[in-house]
Amino acid sequence: MTTAAAPALREQTVSIVANDRDTDQYYRLEVRAPEIAPLVQPGQFAHVRILPLKEALLRRPFSIFQVTTDTFSILYKNVGRGTDVLSRMRSGEELSVIAPLGHGFTVPAPGAEVPLLVAGGYGMAAMYLLAQRSPQKGIVFVGGRRRVDILCEKEFAALGWEVRATTEDGSHGEKGLVTHPLIAELKRGAAGKKLFACGPTPMLKAVAKLAADFNLPAELSMDEHMCCGTGVCLTCVIPIKTADGWEYQRTCTEGPVFDREQILWEVPQ
Ligand SMILES: Cc1cc2nc3c(=O)[nH]c(=O)nc-3n(C[C@H](O)[C@H](O)[C@H](O)COP(=O)(O)OP(=O)(O)OC[C@H]3O[C@@H](n4cnc5c(N)ncnc54)[C@H](O)[C@@H]3O)c2cc1C
Ligand code: FES
Repeated sequence: MTTAAAPALREQTVSIVANDRDTDQYYRLEVRAPEIAPLVQPGQFAHVRILPLKEALLRRPFSIFQVTTDTFSILYKNVGRGTDVLSRMRSGEELSVIAPLGHGFTVPAPGAEVPLLVAGGYGMAAMYLLAQRSPQKGIVFVGGRRRVDILCEKEFAALGWEVRATTEDGSHGEKGLVTHPLIAELKRGAAGKKLFACGPTPMLKAVAKLAADFNLPAELSMDEHMCCGTGVCLTCVIPIKTADGWEYQRTCTEGPVFDREQILWEVPQ
């Protein structure tokens, strides 16, 4: 395994500015963190210790969604014990965060490939800063099971991006998987495009295959369970190709974003 120099960690107790329900099980949480906010790069995450939680020692990772000069926010889905307790916290209460963590997305250079972003559910959160900071506007393909899983369409549109939504039940946008309109777009013309994706692993795998089929570059944000978030415990490793074979790398430090050519989807036997 490659051992990258450990980044200077910024563990801070931060105060909640707002914690509001968005749709259904989704919430937006903003915290005051003037020393962290200016450092955040697109695709990085915060490792959050939910202090009122009984097992508070175990942190939860969340992509950093938006930043201002002195705050950052996350967009999270209430899926379990930690996020449920988090959803009931109010402004003024405190959390412990280590942030910003991880290796994020490459912001396209002026005149570089046209970015096509592909997001499933809360994967939209990892994409917002990339869309905001990219000098080139492209298309955001966003998919979910139901209408309530389609997040921040208006915010991406306000940044000047075209948004194409799909839902599996057809309750919003095109019916089907997020890859369907992406395939149609690539068939219309793939040259000069680059894919960026964040979402469930089967979606990432499908995007990687499409990128390979159309011979396009792609950066994928891998969603692996994490424990320490800082490169120590090795909970989050995935197999990555190297010049002379493959090795396990940590999604919390070498990732979560990897080039699609780097990822080995199955461990060789
Ligand atoms: C780099 C990274 C960025 C993330 N960004 C976001 C984000 O922006 N918004 C968001 O809502 N969530 C995000 N997640 C997932 C989030 O960390 C988990 O949903 C959260 O830790 C669940 O905590 P819990 O205590 O509520 O759930 P638990 O009670 O621990 O588990 C409840 C359920 O959630 C599942 N779960 C736990 N961790 C993950 C995970 N990493 N991926 C998928 N399912 C998981 C468990 O398997 C279980 O089924 C991200 C995860 C990673 C690794
Ligand atoms: S979560 Fe511990 S090494 Fe990545």
